[in-house]
Amino acid sequence: VKRVTTHTLAKMKAAGEKISMLTAYDFSFARIIDGAGIDVILVGDSASNVMAGHETTLPITLDQMIYHAQSVIRGAKRCLVVVDLPFGAYQSNSEIALASAVRIMKETGAHAVKMEGGEEVVDSIKKIVSAGIPVMGHLGLTPQSIYKFGTYAVRAKEDDEANKLRKDVLLLQEAGCFSIVLEKIPASLAKEVTESLYIPTIGIGAGRYCDGQVLVMHDMLGINTEFKPKFLRQYLNIFEQATTAVQHYISDVQSGNFPNEQEQY
Ligand code: KIV
Ligand code: NA
Repeated sequence: VKRVTTHTLAKMKAAGEKISMLTAYDFSFARIIDGAGIDVILVGDSASNVMAGHETTLPITLDQMIYHAQSVIRGAKRCLVVVDLPFGAYQSNSEIALASAVRIMKETGAHAVKMEGGEEVVDSIKKIVSAGIPVMGHLGLTPQSIYKFGTYAVRAKEDDEANKLRKDVLLLQEAGCFSIVLEKIPASLAKEVTESLYIPTIGIGAGRYCDGQVLVMHDMLGINTEFKPKFLRQYLNIFEQATTAVQHYISDVQSGNFPNEQEQY
């Protein structure tokens, strides 16, 4: 199979083909998602929430991200695999940022890294890109800055924040990002900035005009049931189905129905 690369994504934008991206954090789900034909798997720092049960993405460490990425890479044969640089592994120090990105590339075999922020992280992006490592940007709602924002509400609704975003997307493109995630911003703003760029935008809660879409796997499969924002389309309800299956198993064990004659040696 031919591997999806950052160049494939550039060609897709040029051809008007939409890019599909989902998160994954382990081997088994990476196999399912890659096998289904996804373009990009993001090993998101949302692992902090959906895998580890933390309230925010801040606690996850670089070592933990590397463990998740190593597992995903073993299951992903065709898609591009992008790994989030976690909080504390790149902010305001481009030497540390490069060292973190190099660790991810060397220890996991992933194909690119992602980092949150605009102007504040441009120096780090340039340094990582000049080392030959592809970088995906992330603007709008950036969960690593949740304590600065104070809420998970829609970003860039006011002019000053929208204007900063308009400038930031161009700075990221100039710094060499191959793509930018736009999280939870008005669809009209996402449309405008998508049209202002030659690199593809990937939206989450950013409307239909982005060049691609991303969702957190646990949200779209209904593994997570507490998180139901307007932008989320839920394709399965694994939480309910798995609960029912486990209840059947418990009652089969309790009643002596499991295992039966055929299920023993
Ligand atoms: O960590 C994550 O899952 C993300 C996506 C929501 C873009 O950054
Ligand atoms: Na993330």
